[in-house]
Amino acid sequence: MDRRTDFLVIGSGIAGLRAAIGLADAGDVLLLTKADPTESNTGYAQGGIAAALGADDAPDLHYADTMAAGDGLCVPDAVRVLVDDGPRYVDELIGWGVRFDRDAQGGIALAREAAHTVRRVLHATDATGRELARALWMKALTVPRLTVLNHVRAVELLLADGHCAGARYVPGAAGELRAGDIRAGVTLLATGGAGQVFSDTTNPAVATSDGVCLAWKAGARVADMEFVQFHPTALAVPGAPRVLLSEALRGEGARLLNASGEAFMARYETEGDLAPRDRVSRAMLRESRRTGQPVYLSLGHLDPALVHARFPTASASCRLVGLDLARDLIPVGPAAHYMMGGVETDLWGRTTVPGLFAAGEVACTGVHGANRLASNSLLEGLVFGARAALAMTQPPASGRMAGEVREVDSTLARAHGRASSCARPAEGAVRRRMWDAVGVERHGDALREAVAALTEWQAAIDAPAHAMRTPDEWRLLSLVTVGRLVAAAALRRTESRGGHYRGDFPARDDVHWLAHIAERKRDTDS
Ligand code: FAD
Ligand code: SIN
Repeated sequence: MDRRTDFLVIGSGIAGLRAAIGLADAGDVLLLTKADPTESNTGYAQGGIAAALGADDAPDLHYADTMAAGDGLCVPDAVRVLVDDGPRYVDELIGWGVRFDRDAQGGIALAREAAHTVRRVLHATDATGRELARALWMKALTVPRLTVLNHVRAVELLLADGHCAGARYVPGAAGELRAGDIRAGVTLLATGGAGQVFSDTTNPAVATSDGVCLAWKAGARVADMEFVQFHPTALAVPGAPRVLLSEALRGEGARLLNASGEAFMARYETEGDLAPRDRVSRAMLRESRRTGQPVYLSLGHLDPALVHARFPTASASCRLVGLDLARDLIPVGPAAHYMMGGVETDLWGRTTVPGLFAAGEVACTGVHGANRLASNSLLEGLVFGARAALAMTQPPASGRMAGEVREVDSTLARAHGRASSCARPAEGAVRRRMWDAVGVERHGDALREAVAALTEWQAAIDAPAHAMRTPDEWRLLSLVTVGRLVAAAALRRTESRGGHYRGDFPARDDVHWLAHIAERKRDTDS
Protein backbone atom coordinates (compact mmCIF):
# COMPACT_ATOMS: atom_id res chain seq x y z
CA MET A 1 0.00 0.00 0.00
CA ASP A 2 1.36 3.45 -0.89
CA ARG A 3 1.14 6.43 1.46
CA ARG A 4 1.94 10.13 1.54
CA THR A 5 3.19 12.29 4.39
CA ASP A 6 4.88 15.64 4.94
CA PHE A 7 7.58 14.19 7.21
CA LEU A 8 8.85 10.62 7.35
CA VAL A 9 10.85 9.62 10.44
CA ILE A 10 12.54 6.19 10.31
CA GLY A 11 13.33 4.92 13.82
CA SER A 12 11.80 5.26 17.27
CA GLY A 13 14.79 5.80 19.56
CA ILE A 14 15.62 9.08 21.26
CA ALA A 15 16.55 10.85 17.99
CA GLY A 16 13.46 9.77 16.05
CA LEU A 17 11.04 10.43 18.89
CA ARG A 18 12.48 13.86 19.71
CA ALA A 19 12.36 14.81 16.04
CA ALA A 20 8.78 13.56 15.61
CA ILE A 21 7.67 15.61 18.63
CA GLY A 22 9.45 18.65 17.19
CA LEU A 23 7.68 18.27 13.84
CA ALA A 24 4.26 18.13 15.46
CA ASP A 25 3.07 21.58 14.45
CA ALA A 26 4.51 21.56 10.97
CA GLY A 27 2.52 18.85 9.19
CA ASP A 28 1.70 15.14 9.03
CA VAL A 29 4.41 12.95 10.53
CA LEU A 30 4.78 9.23 9.81
CA LEU A 31 7.14 7.32 12.09
CA LEU A 32 8.35 3.85 11.06
CA THR A 33 9.95 1.33 13.34
CA LYS A 34 10.93 -2.16 12.27
CA ALA A 35 10.25 -3.98 15.55
CA ASP A 36 8.36 -3.35 18.80
CA PRO A 37 8.25 0.42 19.35
CA THR A 38 10.52 0.40 22.39
CA GLU A 39 13.09 -1.99 20.89
CA SER A 40 16.07 0.28 20.26
CA ASN A 41 19.51 1.04 21.64
CA THR A 42 17.83 3.89 23.50
CA GLY A 43 15.66 1.45 25.46
CA TYR A 44 18.75 -0.43 26.70
CA ALA A 45 20.84 2.60 27.66
CA GLN A 46 22.13 2.21 31.19
CA GLY A 47 24.60 4.78 32.54
CA GLY A 48 22.72 7.96 31.66
CA ILE A 49 22.77 11.20 29.72
CA ALA A 50 25.55 13.75 30.10
CA ALA A 51 24.84 17.48 30.50
CA ALA A 52 26.68 20.30 32.25
CA LEU A 53 24.15 20.84 35.02
CA GLY A 54 26.25 20.38 38.19
CA ALA A 55 27.36 23.29 40.39
CA ASP A 56 31.01 22.49 39.61
CA ASP A 57 30.38 22.06 35.88
CA ALA A 58 30.06 24.28 32.81
CA PRO A 59 29.54 23.70 29.06
CA ASP A 60 33.19 24.68 28.54
CA LEU A 61 34.33 21.78 30.75
CA HIS A 62 32.00 19.38 28.95
CA TYR A 63 33.39 20.72 25.67
CA ALA A 64 36.99 20.10 26.77
CA ASP A 65 36.26 16.51 27.90
CA THR A 66 34.39 15.70 24.68
CA MET A 67 37.18 17.11 22.51
CA ALA A 68 39.83 15.19 24.46
CA ALA A 69 37.94 11.89 24.09
CA GLY A 70 37.54 12.51 20.33
CA ASP A 71 41.32 12.33 19.90
CA GLY A 72 41.73 15.22 17.44
CA LEU A 73 38.82 14.49 15.12
CA CYS A 74 35.79 16.12 16.78
CA VAL A 75 34.14 18.86 14.72
CA PRO A 76 34.44 21.77 17.18
CA ASP A 77 31.23 23.56 16.10
CA ALA A 78 29.22 20.37 16.54
CA VAL A 79 30.62 19.81 20.02
CA ARG A 80 29.80 23.43 20.89
CA VAL A 81 26.18 22.87 19.88
CA LEU A 82 26.00 19.65 21.90
CA VAL A 83 27.34 21.07 25.16
CA ASP A 84 25.67 24.50 24.92
CA ASP A 85 22.20 23.26 23.89
CA GLY A 86 22.33 20.04 25.93
CA PRO A 87 21.26 21.42 29.33
CA ARG A 88 18.22 23.18 27.79
CA TYR A 89 16.99 20.01 26.06
CA VAL A 90 17.59 17.91 29.18
CA ASP A 91 15.58 20.42 31.24
CA GLU A 92 12.83 20.06 28.65
CA LEU A 93 12.87 16.27 29.23
CA ILE A 94 12.47 16.82 32.96
CA GLY A 95 9.50 19.07 32.14
CA TRP A 96 8.05 16.21 30.08
CA GLY A 97 8.17 13.92 33.10
CA VAL A 98 11.51 12.06 32.93
CA ARG A 99 12.24 10.82 36.46
CA PHE A 100 16.00 11.09 36.95
CA ASP A 101 17.44 9.85 40.26
CA ARG A 102 17.67 12.48 43.02
CA ASP A 103 20.25 12.99 45.75
CA ALA A 104 19.49 13.28 49.47
CA GLN A 105 18.79 17.03 49.10
CA GLY A 106 16.29 16.45 46.29
CA GLY A 107 18.63 17.70 43.54
CA ILE A 108 19.44 15.68 40.42
CA ALA A 109 22.00 12.97 41.31
CA LEU A 110 24.97 13.16 38.96
CA ALA A 111 27.24 10.17 38.26
CA ARG A 112 30.85 10.04 37.10
CA GLU A 113 31.90 8.03 34.06
CA ALA A 114 35.23 7.47 32.34
CA ALA A 115 37.02 10.52 30.90
CA HIS A 116 34.53 13.01 32.44
CA THR A 117 36.44 15.31 34.79
CA VAL A 118 33.36 15.98 36.96
CA ARG A 119 30.12 14.21 37.89
CA ARG A 120 27.88 15.02 34.93
CA VAL A 121 25.68 12.04 34.10
CA LEU A 122 21.93 12.13 34.86
CA HIS A 123 20.51 8.65 35.33
CA ALA A 124 17.49 6.60 36.33
CA THR A 125 19.22 3.78 38.23
CA ASP A 126 20.99 1.82 35.46
CA ALA A 127 17.86 1.77 33.27
CA THR A 128 18.04 5.36 32.05
CA GLY A 129 17.08 4.49 28.46
CA ARG A 130 13.89 2.75 29.52
CA GLU A 131 12.81 5.83 31.49
CA LEU A 132 13.69 8.20 28.62
CA ALA A 133 11.79 6.06 26.10
CA ARG A 134 8.76 5.89 28.41
CA ALA A 135 8.58 9.66 28.77
CA LEU A 136 9.26 10.37 25.09
CA TRP A 137 6.56 7.92 23.99
CA MET A 138 4.07 9.52 26.45
CA LYS A 139 4.87 12.90 24.92
CA ALA A 140 4.75 11.59 21.33
CA LEU A 141 1.29 10.13 21.90
CA THR A 142 0.02 13.67 22.49
CA VAL A 143 1.20 14.75 19.03
CA PRO A 144 -1.98 15.16 16.96
CA ARG A 145 -0.69 14.51 13.44
CA LEU A 146 1.71 11.66 14.23
CA THR A 147 1.06 8.16 12.85
CA VAL A 148 3.27 5.30 14.06
CA LEU A 149 3.77 2.12 12.02
CA ASN A 150 5.42 -0.66 14.03
CA HIS A 151 7.08 -3.75 12.55
CA VAL A 152 7.65 -1.96 9.25
CA ARG A 153 11.14 -1.94 7.76
CA ALA A 154 12.42 0.77 5.42
CA VAL A 155 14.46 -0.99 2.73
CA GLU A 156 15.22 1.66 0.13
CA LEU A 157 15.14 5.44 -0.16
CA LEU A 158 13.12 6.86 -3.06
CA LEU A 159 14.92 9.43 -5.18
CA ALA A 160 13.42 12.00 -7.55
CA ASP A 161 15.71 14.39 -9.42
CA GLY A 162 18.48 13.76 -6.90
CA HIS A 163 16.19 14.54 -3.93
CA CYS A 164 15.05 12.03 -1.35
CA ALA A 165 11.30 11.59 -1.87
CA GLY A 166 10.52 9.02 0.84
CA ALA A 167 11.15 5.32 1.35
CA ARG A 168 10.08 1.85 0.26
CA TYR A 169 9.04 -0.47 3.07
CA VAL A 170 8.36 -4.14 3.69
CA PRO A 171 6.85 -5.85 6.74
CA GLY A 172 9.32 -6.33 9.61
CA ALA A 173 9.91 -9.86 10.96
CA ALA A 174 6.55 -9.79 12.81
CA GLY A 175 4.81 -7.24 10.57
CA GLU A 176 1.46 -7.59 8.84
CA LEU A 177 1.44 -4.63 6.40
CA ARG A 178 2.04 -5.33 2.72
CA ALA A 179 5.10 -3.71 1.08
CA GLY A 180 4.69 -0.23 -0.37
CA ASP A 181 6.11 3.25 -0.88
CA ILE A 182 5.85 6.25 1.41
CA ARG A 183 6.14 9.52 -0.50
CA ALA A 184 7.44 12.19 1.86
CA GLY A 185 8.42 15.85 1.55
CA VAL A 186 11.36 15.31 3.89
CA THR A 187 12.82 12.11 5.39
CA LEU A 188 14.81 11.61 8.59
CA LEU A 189 16.98 8.56 9.23
CA ALA A 190 17.04 7.83 12.96
CA THR A 191 17.81 4.13 12.64
CA GLY A 192 20.45 3.85 15.37
CA GLY A 193 23.67 1.89 15.63
CA ALA A 194 25.65 -0.90 14.02
CA GLY A 195 26.63 -3.21 16.89
CA GLN A 196 25.13 -6.29 15.22
CA VAL A 197 27.73 -6.02 12.47
CA PHE A 198 30.03 -7.71 15.04
CA SER A 199 29.54 -11.11 16.64
CA ASP A 200 30.23 -9.69 20.12
CA THR A 201 28.06 -6.69 20.90
CA THR A 202 26.08 -4.98 23.62
CA ASN A 203 23.49 -3.86 21.05
CA PRO A 204 20.03 -5.43 20.57
CA ALA A 205 19.02 -7.28 17.39
CA VAL A 206 17.62 -4.15 15.69
CA ALA A 207 21.04 -2.42 15.60
CA THR A 208 22.00 -3.46 12.05
CA SER A 209 22.86 0.01 10.76
CA ASP A 210 20.13 -0.03 8.11
CA GLY A 211 20.26 3.77 7.85
CA VAL A 212 23.88 3.81 6.73
CA CYS A 213 23.12 1.12 4.15
CA LEU A 214 20.04 2.98 2.87
CA ALA A 215 21.82 6.33 2.70
CA TRP A 216 24.96 4.94 1.06
CA LYS A 217 22.89 3.18 -1.60
CA ALA A 218 21.05 6.47 -2.23
CA GLY A 219 24.38 8.22 -2.86
CA ALA A 220 24.81 10.01 0.48
CA ARG A 221 28.28 10.39 1.89
CA VAL A 222 29.19 8.33 4.95
CA ALA A 223 32.15 9.28 7.13
CA ASP A 224 34.36 8.07 10.01
CA MET A 225 33.18 4.48 9.58
CA GLU A 226 36.41 3.04 10.98
CA PHE A 227 35.62 4.48 14.39
CA VAL A 228 33.71 1.90 16.41
CA GLN A 229 33.67 2.03 20.20
CA PHE A 230 34.27 -1.26 22.02
CA HIS A 231 32.87 -1.14 25.54
CA PRO A 232 35.24 -2.88 27.96
CA THR A 233 32.73 -4.43 30.32
CA ALA A 234 30.24 -6.71 28.63
CA LEU A 235 29.38 -9.85 30.57
CA ALA A 236 31.66 -12.64 29.29
CA VAL A 237 30.02 -15.89 30.35
CA PRO A 238 30.24 -18.53 27.59
CA GLY A 239 26.85 -19.08 25.95
CA ALA A 240 25.22 -16.04 27.63
CA PRO A 241 24.39 -12.79 25.79
CA ARG A 242 27.09 -10.10 25.95
CA VAL A 243 24.95 -7.76 28.05
CA LEU A 244 26.45 -4.45 29.10
CA LEU A 245 27.66 -3.90 32.65
CA SER A 246 27.57 -0.12 32.83
CA GLU A 247 30.67 1.99 33.16
CA ALA A 248 28.83 3.70 36.02
CA LEU A 249 29.74 0.60 38.07
CA ARG A 250 33.40 1.64 37.86
CA GLY A 251 32.32 5.25 38.41
CA GLU A 252 30.91 4.10 41.77
CA GLY A 253 34.07 2.18 42.68
CA ALA A 254 33.97 -1.23 40.94
CA ARG A 255 37.48 -2.51 40.10
CA LEU A 256 38.88 -4.54 37.23
CA LEU A 257 40.90 -7.49 38.56
CA ASN A 258 42.95 -10.21 36.94
CA ALA A 259 42.55 -13.87 37.87
CA SER A 260 45.01 -13.44 40.78
CA GLY A 261 42.87 -10.65 42.24
CA GLU A 262 45.32 -7.89 41.22
CA ALA A 263 43.89 -4.48 40.20
CA PHE A 264 45.96 -4.33 37.00
CA MET A 265 44.69 -1.22 35.18
CA ALA A 266 47.18 1.17 36.83
CA ARG A 267 49.99 -0.80 35.17
CA TYR A 268 48.59 0.14 31.76
CA GLU A 269 46.93 3.55 32.20
CA THR A 270 47.48 6.43 34.62
CA GLU A 271 43.70 6.97 34.89
CA GLY A 272 43.38 3.30 35.94
CA ASP A 273 39.89 1.80 35.78
CA LEU A 274 38.43 5.08 34.49
CA ALA A 275 40.69 5.53 31.46
CA PRO A 276 38.89 6.02 28.11
CA ARG A 277 37.04 2.92 26.92
CA ASP A 278 39.30 2.03 24.01
CA ARG A 279 42.36 2.00 26.26
CA VAL A 280 40.62 -0.01 28.98
CA SER A 281 39.46 -2.54 26.37
CA ARG A 282 42.98 -3.00 24.98
CA ALA A 283 44.53 -3.21 28.45
CA MET A 284 42.04 -5.93 29.40
CA LEU A 285 42.87 -7.94 26.28
CA ARG A 286 46.60 -7.62 26.98
CA GLU A 287 46.21 -8.63 30.60
CA SER A 288 44.08 -11.57 29.59
CA ARG A 289 46.68 -12.65 27.02
CA ARG A 290 49.50 -12.20 29.53
CA THR A 291 47.83 -14.34 32.20
CA GLY A 292 45.93 -16.69 29.92
CA GLN A 293 42.92 -16.06 32.19
CA PRO A 294 39.74 -13.95 32.05
CA VAL A 295 39.46 -10.49 33.55
CA TYR A 296 36.85 -9.72 36.21
CA LEU A 297 34.81 -6.84 37.55
CA SER A 298 34.68 -6.80 41.33
CA LEU A 299 32.26 -4.93 43.61
CA GLY A 300 32.94 -7.06 46.68
CA HIS A 301 34.30 -4.07 48.65
CA LEU A 302 31.08 -2.03 48.19
CA ASP A 303 27.83 -2.15 50.22
CA PRO A 304 25.75 -4.97 48.61
CA ALA A 305 22.41 -3.28 49.33
CA LEU A 306 23.57 -0.10 47.61
CA VAL A 307 24.97 -2.06 44.65
CA HIS A 308 21.70 -3.89 44.02
CA ALA A 309 19.59 -0.74 44.49
CA ARG A 310 21.71 1.46 42.23
CA PHE A 311 22.29 -1.19 39.53
CA PRO A 312 19.16 -3.33 39.26
CA THR A 313 19.68 -4.03 35.52
CA ALA A 314 23.26 -5.26 35.91
CA SER A 315 22.25 -7.16 39.03
CA ALA A 316 19.43 -8.97 37.19
CA SER A 317 21.70 -9.78 34.21
CA CYS A 318 24.24 -11.39 36.54
CA ARG A 319 21.55 -13.28 38.46
CA LEU A 320 20.35 -14.84 35.18
CA VAL A 321 23.74 -16.55 34.81
CA GLY A 322 23.98 -17.51 38.48
CA LEU A 323 26.23 -14.65 39.62
CA ASP A 324 25.76 -12.13 42.43
CA LEU A 325 26.90 -8.71 41.19
CA ALA A 326 27.73 -7.50 44.69
CA ARG A 327 29.68 -10.57 45.82
CA ASP A 328 31.04 -12.60 42.90
CA LEU A 329 33.87 -11.90 40.50
CA ILE A 330 32.06 -11.07 37.24
CA PRO A 331 33.87 -12.15 34.03
CA VAL A 332 33.92 -9.26 31.55
CA GLY A 333 35.38 -8.45 28.15
CA PRO A 334 35.04 -5.92 25.34
CA ALA A 335 32.13 -5.87 22.89
CA ALA A 336 31.13 -3.60 20.00
CA HIS A 337 29.02 -0.87 21.53
CA TYR A 338 28.76 2.34 19.53
CA MET A 339 29.36 3.58 15.98
CA MET A 340 31.02 7.01 15.91
CA GLY A 341 30.82 7.19 12.11
CA GLY A 342 27.71 7.21 9.97
CA VAL A 343 25.80 9.29 7.47
CA GLU A 344 27.60 12.60 7.21
CA THR A 345 25.52 15.61 8.27
CA ASP A 346 25.90 19.29 8.93
CA LEU A 347 24.97 20.90 12.24
CA TRP A 348 21.25 20.61 11.38
CA GLY A 349 21.13 16.96 10.38
CA ARG A 350 21.23 17.62 6.63
CA THR A 351 22.97 14.85 4.67
CA THR A 352 24.61 15.34 1.28
CA VAL A 353 21.35 14.20 -0.40
CA PRO A 354 18.76 17.02 -0.46
CA GLY A 355 15.58 16.12 1.43
CA LEU A 356 17.38 13.46 3.50
CA PHE A 357 18.29 14.13 7.14
CA ALA A 358 19.97 11.93 9.74
CA ALA A 359 20.16 12.18 13.54
CA GLY A 360 21.31 10.04 16.45
CA GLU A 361 23.72 7.12 16.20
CA VAL A 362 23.16 6.65 12.44
CA ALA A 363 24.50 10.15 11.80
CA CYS A 364 28.04 11.43 11.77
CA THR A 365 27.85 15.01 12.99
CA GLY A 366 31.50 14.89 14.03
CA VAL A 367 30.53 15.35 17.69
CA HIS A 368 32.36 12.21 18.79
CA GLY A 369 35.41 12.40 16.54
CA ALA A 370 37.43 9.21 16.87
CA ASN A 371 35.96 8.21 20.23
CA ARG A 372 32.76 9.05 22.08
CA LEU A 373 32.74 10.36 25.62
CA ALA A 374 30.47 8.17 27.78
CA SER A 375 26.80 9.22 27.91
CA ASN A 376 27.18 11.75 25.09
CA SER A 377 25.15 9.70 22.61
CA LEU A 378 21.74 10.01 24.24
CA LEU A 379 22.48 13.73 24.42
CA GLU A 380 23.45 13.81 20.75
CA GLY A 381 20.23 12.04 19.73
CA LEU A 382 18.20 14.47 21.81
CA VAL A 383 19.88 17.69 20.69
CA PHE A 384 20.38 16.83 17.03
CA GLY A 385 16.98 15.11 16.75
CA ALA A 386 15.42 18.40 17.89
CA ARG A 387 17.59 20.45 15.53
CA ALA A 388 16.86 18.19 12.57
CA ALA A 389 13.15 18.70 13.18
CA LEU A 390 13.64 22.48 13.08
CA ALA A 391 15.64 22.28 9.85
CA MET A 392 13.23 19.84 8.18
CA THR A 393 10.62 22.58 8.13
CA GLN A 394 13.00 24.95 6.31
CA PRO A 395 13.76 25.21 2.56
CA PRO A 396 16.13 22.46 1.36
CA ALA A 397 19.90 22.77 1.51
CA SER A 398 22.56 20.09 1.46
CA GLY A 399 24.94 19.49 4.33
CA ARG A 400 28.70 19.25 4.59
CA MET A 401 30.88 18.17 7.43
CA ALA A 402 33.41 20.71 8.68
CA GLY A 403 37.16 19.95 8.67
CA GLU A 404 39.26 18.05 6.15
CA VAL A 405 37.32 15.23 4.51
CA ARG A 406 39.00 12.74 2.16
CA GLU A 407 36.48 11.12 -0.10
CA VAL A 408 37.67 7.71 -1.28
CA ASP A 409 36.69 5.58 -4.26
CA SER A 410 34.59 2.57 -3.49
CA THR A 411 36.30 -0.66 -4.49
CA LEU A 412 33.06 -2.45 -5.28
CA ALA A 413 32.93 -2.01 -9.02
CA ARG A 414 36.09 -4.04 -9.50
CA ALA A 415 34.70 -6.93 -7.49
CA HIS A 416 31.62 -7.41 -9.63
CA GLY A 417 33.40 -9.62 -12.12
CA ARG A 418 33.92 -12.20 -9.39
CA ALA A 419 30.42 -12.00 -7.98
CA SER A 420 28.96 -14.99 -9.75
CA SER A 421 31.47 -17.39 -8.19
CA CYS A 422 30.78 -16.19 -4.64
CA ALA A 423 28.00 -17.73 -2.55
CA ARG A 424 25.80 -15.70 -0.23
CA PRO A 425 27.49 -15.73 3.20
CA ALA A 426 25.99 -16.95 6.48
CA GLU A 427 25.27 -14.08 8.87
CA GLY A 428 27.35 -15.70 11.62
CA ALA A 429 30.39 -15.84 9.33
CA VAL A 430 30.11 -12.14 8.49
CA ARG A 431 29.79 -11.07 12.11
CA ARG A 432 32.62 -13.35 13.27
CA ARG A 433 34.92 -12.07 10.50
CA MET A 434 34.17 -8.50 11.55
CA TRP A 435 34.96 -9.27 15.19
CA ASP A 436 38.17 -11.15 14.42
CA ALA A 437 39.59 -8.77 11.79
CA VAL A 438 37.95 -5.40 12.47
CA GLY A 439 37.55 -5.55 16.26
CA VAL A 440 39.47 -4.05 19.19
CA GLU A 441 42.89 -4.64 17.60
CA ARG A 442 43.24 -4.46 13.83
CA HIS A 443 46.05 -5.44 11.49
CA GLY A 444 46.63 -4.67 7.79
CA ASP A 445 46.77 -8.29 6.55
CA ALA A 446 43.58 -9.39 8.28
CA LEU A 447 41.83 -6.16 7.25
CA ARG A 448 42.82 -6.65 3.62
CA GLU A 449 41.42 -10.19 3.61
CA ALA A 450 38.24 -9.03 5.35
CA VAL A 451 37.67 -6.24 2.82
CA ALA A 452 38.12 -8.70 -0.06
CA ALA A 453 35.67 -11.19 1.47
CA LEU A 454 33.08 -8.52 2.33
CA THR A 455 33.34 -7.00 -1.14
CA GLU A 456 32.64 -10.36 -2.75
CA TRP A 457 29.82 -11.10 -0.32
CA GLN A 458 28.27 -7.74 -1.00
CA ALA A 459 28.37 -8.27 -4.74
CA ALA A 460 26.75 -11.70 -4.25
CA ILE A 461 23.85 -10.46 -2.12
CA ASP A 462 23.32 -7.34 -4.22
CA ALA A 463 22.75 -9.43 -7.35
CA PRO A 464 19.31 -8.84 -8.93
CA ALA A 465 18.20 -12.43 -8.26
CA HIS A 466 17.94 -11.47 -4.59
CA ALA A 467 15.74 -8.40 -5.15
CA MET A 468 12.78 -9.91 -3.27
CA ARG A 469 14.25 -10.49 0.14
CA THR A 470 13.12 -12.08 3.37
CA PRO A 471 13.63 -10.11 6.64
CA ASP A 472 16.80 -12.13 7.28
CA GLU A 473 18.14 -11.22 3.83
CA TRP A 474 17.48 -7.50 4.35
CA ARG A 475 19.32 -7.78 7.64
CA LEU A 476 22.27 -9.52 5.99
CA LEU A 477 22.42 -6.86 3.27
CA SER A 478 22.87 -4.14 5.90
CA LEU A 479 25.44 -6.11 7.89
CA VAL A 480 27.59 -6.86 4.86
CA THR A 481 27.29 -3.37 3.30
CA VAL A 482 28.13 -1.59 6.52
CA GLY A 483 30.76 -4.15 7.50
CA ARG A 484 32.57 -3.49 4.25
CA LEU A 485 32.45 0.28 4.82
CA VAL A 486 33.92 -0.16 8.31
CA ALA A 487 36.63 -2.59 7.21
CA ALA A 488 37.64 -0.53 4.16
CA ALA A 489 38.02 2.67 6.20
CA ALA A 490 39.92 0.77 8.91
CA LEU A 491 42.33 -0.59 6.30
CA ARG A 492 42.84 2.84 4.81
CA ARG A 493 43.63 4.60 8.11
CA THR A 494 47.24 3.61 8.70
CA GLU A 495 47.53 4.97 12.24
CA SER A 496 45.87 4.42 15.64
CA ARG A 497 43.43 6.97 17.00
CA GLY A 498 40.46 6.80 19.36
CA GLY A 499 38.47 3.60 18.87
CA HIS A 500 40.60 2.58 15.85
CA TYR A 501 43.74 0.65 16.84
CA ARG A 502 46.14 -0.78 14.26
CA GLY A 503 48.72 -3.21 15.66
CA ASP A 504 50.88 -2.49 12.59
CA PHE A 505 50.54 1.32 13.03
CA PRO A 506 50.24 1.74 16.82
CA ALA A 507 50.91 5.51 16.97
CA ARG A 508 48.64 8.47 16.27
CA ASP A 509 49.85 10.23 13.11
CA ASP A 510 48.67 13.85 12.95
CA VAL A 511 50.89 14.63 9.99
CA HIS A 512 48.97 12.33 7.63
CA TRP A 513 45.71 11.50 9.37
CA LEU A 514 44.16 14.56 10.97
CA ALA A 515 41.26 14.09 8.53
CA HIS A 516 37.95 12.26 8.12
CA ILE A 517 37.59 9.39 5.66
CA ALA A 518 34.33 9.60 3.70
CA GLU A 519 32.86 7.36 1.03
CA ARG A 520 30.05 7.86 -1.45
CA LYS A 521 28.62 5.20 -3.74
CA ARG A 522 29.43 5.60 -7.43
CA ASP A 523 26.99 4.82 -10.22
CA THR A 524 29.16 1.83 -11.10
CA ASP A 525 28.64 0.26 -7.67
CA SER A 526 25.74 -2.09 -7.06
P1 FAD B 1 18.07 3.78 18.53
O1 FAD B 1 17.68 4.10 19.91
O2 FAD B 1 18.90 2.58 18.34
O3 FAD B 1 16.74 3.61 17.66
C1 FAD B 1 16.80 3.14 16.34
C2 FAD B 1 15.40 2.82 15.85
O4 FAD B 1 15.40 2.63 14.46
C3 FAD B 1 14.78 1.58 16.45
O5 FAD B 1 13.46 1.91 16.75
C4 FAD B 1 14.83 0.57 15.29
O6 FAD B 1 13.82 -0.40 15.35
C5 FAD B 1 14.60 1.51 14.13
N1 FAD B 1 15.06 1.02 12.83
C6 FAD B 1 16.30 0.61 12.49
N2 FAD B 1 16.34 0.27 11.19
C7 FAD B 1 15.10 0.47 10.71
C8 FAD B 1 14.50 0.28 9.42
N3 FAD B 1 15.20 -0.20 8.38
N4 FAD B 1 13.18 0.57 9.27
C9 FAD B 1 12.44 1.01 10.32
N5 FAD B 1 12.97 1.20 11.54
C10 FAD B 1 14.27 0.94 11.74
N6 FAD B 1 24.41 6.13 25.39
C11 FAD B 1 24.42 7.07 26.34
O7 FAD B 1 24.53 8.26 26.04
N7 FAD B 1 24.29 6.72 27.65
C12 FAD B 1 24.14 5.43 28.05
O8 FAD B 1 24.00 5.15 29.23
C13 FAD B 1 24.15 4.42 27.07
N8 FAD B 1 24.04 3.12 27.42
C14 FAD B 1 23.94 2.19 26.43
C15 FAD B 1 23.73 0.85 26.79
C16 FAD B 1 23.56 -0.10 25.82
C17 FAD B 1 23.34 -1.54 26.23
C18 FAD B 1 23.60 0.26 24.46
C19 FAD B 1 23.41 -0.77 23.39
C20 FAD B 1 23.84 1.58 24.09
C21 FAD B 1 24.00 2.56 25.07
N9 FAD B 1 24.23 3.88 24.74
C22 FAD B 1 24.26 4.82 25.72
C23 FAD B 1 24.20 4.33 23.34
C24 FAD B 1 22.81 4.93 23.07
O9 FAD B 1 21.83 4.13 23.69
C25 FAD B 1 22.51 5.01 21.59
O10 FAD B 1 23.58 5.58 20.89
C26 FAD B 1 21.27 5.86 21.33
O11 FAD B 1 20.21 5.41 22.15
C27 FAD B 1 20.88 5.79 19.88
O12 FAD B 1 19.63 6.41 19.72
P2 FAD B 1 19.01 6.53 18.28
O13 FAD B 1 17.71 7.23 18.44
O14 FAD B 1 19.99 7.07 17.35
O15 FAD B 1 18.78 4.99 17.82
C1 SIN C 1 27.38 2.59 30.10
O1 SIN C 1 26.46 2.70 30.90
O2 SIN C 1 28.49 2.15 30.38
C2 SIN C 1 27.14 2.98 28.71
C3 SIN C 1 27.20 4.44 28.63
C4 SIN C 1 27.41 4.89 27.22
O3 SIN C 1 27.52 4.07 26.31
O4 SIN C 1 27.50 6.09 27.05
